[in-house]
Amino acid sequence: MKRCSIARRAIFHYTCPVPTKVIAVANQKGGVGKTTTAINLAACLAALGRRVLLFDLDPQANATSGLGLEKIEGGSAYRVLLGEGGLLDKIRNTAYDRLEVIPSEVDLCGLDIELARSDNHLQRVTGVLQPVLDSQRFDLILVDCPPSLGILTLNAFAASDGVLVPLQCEYYALEGISMLNRIMGQLHDTGVNPNLELLGVVMTMFDGRTKLSQQVVSEVREHFGDKVFDILIPRSTRLAEAPSFGKPIIYYDKYSAGAAAYELLAQEVAARLDRVPEAAVQAATQSPEPAPAQTVSQAGPT
Ligand SMILES: Nc1ncnc2c1ncn2[C@@H]1O[C@H](COP(=O)(O)OP(=O)(O)OP(=O)(O)O)[C@@H](O)[C@H]1O
Ligand SMILES: [Mg+2]
Repeated sequence: MKRCSIARRAIFHYTCPVPTKVIAVANQKGGVGKTTTAINLAACLAALGRRVLLFDLDPQANATSGLGLEKIEGGSAYRVLLGEGGLLDKIRNTAYDRLEVIPSEVDLCGLDIELARSDNHLQRVTGVLQPVLDSQRFDLILVDCPPSLGILTLNAFAASDGVLVPLQCEYYALEGISMLNRIMGQLHDTGVNPNLELLGVVMTMFDGRTKLSQQVVSEVREHFGDKVFDILIPRSTRLAEAPSFGKPIIYYDKYSAGAAAYELLAQEVAARLDRVPEAAVQAATQSPEPAPAQTVSQAGPT
């Protein structure tokens, strides 16, 4: 039985092109490691062979500078989100294979107010991403969200398959998480995005020498169960330094603890993304109805 299921899954992966997954990296709390996680996860997944697009949706543009990209006026998604031009034209290469970026710049700041007045204001990112999804250029799009649950983050949620929540190993880690959960539930239940799921929770800035870090991890595991990734991202000076050199940690200090942690996180994330619901596997691998036998007259002259 188990062997049969493994065989079905193999057939599924062989025969069904897997659509691009969109993952929002979000937590309305500031400074918890969203951007550090987005940059390093993107780089590690690209190093694993995935084609990754990092969409910087935070006006602070930290993911853009952390990957060593100069800000170019008019280079962000700002105009596209207001209806001018296409998002494919905003995609820029990085110094790393299979890793591309849609940069941000400070003008994204104004979008919250401008979009609030427009129709369909929660579906703007969904709309502009469609040609990127259709292009099948990427296996994964990671969206680095700003530290708020404003319109930009809600747009990212509306366009995403999953949300990845970095939580800092500190006393107030879970503060505000019920609000984030409630908003995800509302987007799900109101039909704005019925597919939205929590992909997982990643604990950041873990310091194994302190009791507090360990207590916070066990409290979060109690709350989120196996949604919490096994790997804990350590507090590390090398991780904090890397963005000022415009490099992901695996290119800044390949043998550091931070690099090893993000490599392991990438493997866990890849495994979760590759999980296909059994129903989809069955539907795709069920043998087709036998075709009715063709009669000579239906077949026509040979
Ligand atoms: N594991 C870590 N060890 C040490 N420093 C870290 C680690 N992760 C992130 N930092 C540092 O903490 C600060 C905040 O991290 P980061 O910018 O990734 O958070 P953020 O959630 O994206 O912040 P914001 O909410 O402002 O967008 C940065 O200076 C970053 O370099
Ligand atoms: Mg950030």
